Amino acid sequence: MNPTRIAPSLLAADWTRLGEEVRAVERAGADWLHLDIMDGHFVPNISFGPALVKALRPMATMPFDVHLMIAPADPFLAAFAEAGAEWISLHPEAGPHLHRSLQTIRALGCRPGVVLNPATPVESVAHVLDLTDLILVMTVNPGFGGQSFLRSQLQKIATLRRMIAESGRDIALQVDGGVTRETAPLCREAGADVLVAGTAVFGTPDYAEAIATLRESA
Ligand code: DX5
Ligand code: ZN
Repeated sequence: MNPTRIAPSLLAADWTRLGEEVRAVERAGADWLHLDIMDGHFVPNISFGPALVKALRPMATMPFDVHLMIAPADPFLAAFAEAGAEWISLHPEAGPHLHRSLQTIRALGCRPGVVLNPATPVESVAHVLDLTDLILVMTVNPGFGGQSFLRSQLQKIATLRRMIAESGRDIALQVDGGVTRETAPLCREAGADVLVAGTAVFGTPDYAEAIATLRESA
């Protein structure tokens, strides 16, 4: 298991000053920047697309972690790769051929991830582990920041940690939704090594303190 990495979610940033916000969380110690892409169809909210990812890319050097909540996802994979995403994660429900989508992401030079909604079973990723560099466990229903952490997902995180160990591959295990200084330790204990945090970072006055607290509490 890798040391805990913290990925602030831009969704909770001040959107009138996005460039500055990206620079500020990087200076504050963020490991990755988490970018939530929503289409108003796969999830009941609309956020932003590849043009914004591209505009923000020069603002920081940390990896950009793109979480696609769009369906279909395949037509947009190249645009996010060109925009400078390092990680591109998608939900198995976002298209008929998850295996092919992961192959495409890898062929574009990015690191592929699979995202499991609260009701999506671990079996959805079992047969594509060879193509998966990251598994993201949603601990809220996707679409909005600021929701409460679903403790029912801790068991899933633990099961995935075992599956990853058995695979012998270095697969990041990420948690997204309701991560706070209270829930971060539960995620880490269950086996997660990347924590996404929107409100718990951008909703506080001191990003460095928030990131350090999340990292240490985990
Ligand atoms: C929800 C998004 C999350 C969200 C997390 O659909 O995937 O990344 O920004 O926000 P918090 O940390 O506030 O729960
Ligand atoms: Zn997300």
